Amino acid sequence: MAKIRFLPAGKTIKVRAGQTVIHAAKANRVVIPQRCGGHASCLMCKVIVEEGRLGPPTALEQRIMSEDDLNRGVRLACQAKTTDQDCTLRIPENKLKSVVQAALERQRAEEDDLW
Ligand code: FES
Repeated sequence: MAKIRFLPAGKTIKVRAGQTVIHAAKANRVVIPQRCGGHASCLMCKVIVEEGRLGPPTALEQRIMSEDDLNRGVRLACQAKTTDQDCTLRIPENKLKSVVQAALERQRAEEDDLW
């Protein structure tokens, strides 16, 4: 069994080699956004390998993802398979959520300055 650590939440799960990342995540209540049911068409399930490694990119990943993304460690969680090696994966944050959080932090900082 290997371990996968998911960022930014920091949750670590144990996985068997050969599972898709999205299946292993779902079985351990780690949410990876997706809309196509794992058919490699929505591209919403991208994860970034920050440490360790996953199985080699599948033919589908090679066909629909840019070479630049694959070289940077971006993988489709519905296609990428776990190995017997530990790894750390980053689930990119939703852009809207990031913008709202930044605005709230700015607002809090401004309110703190008023006091
Ligand atoms: S779940 Fe849609 S591309 Fe992976």
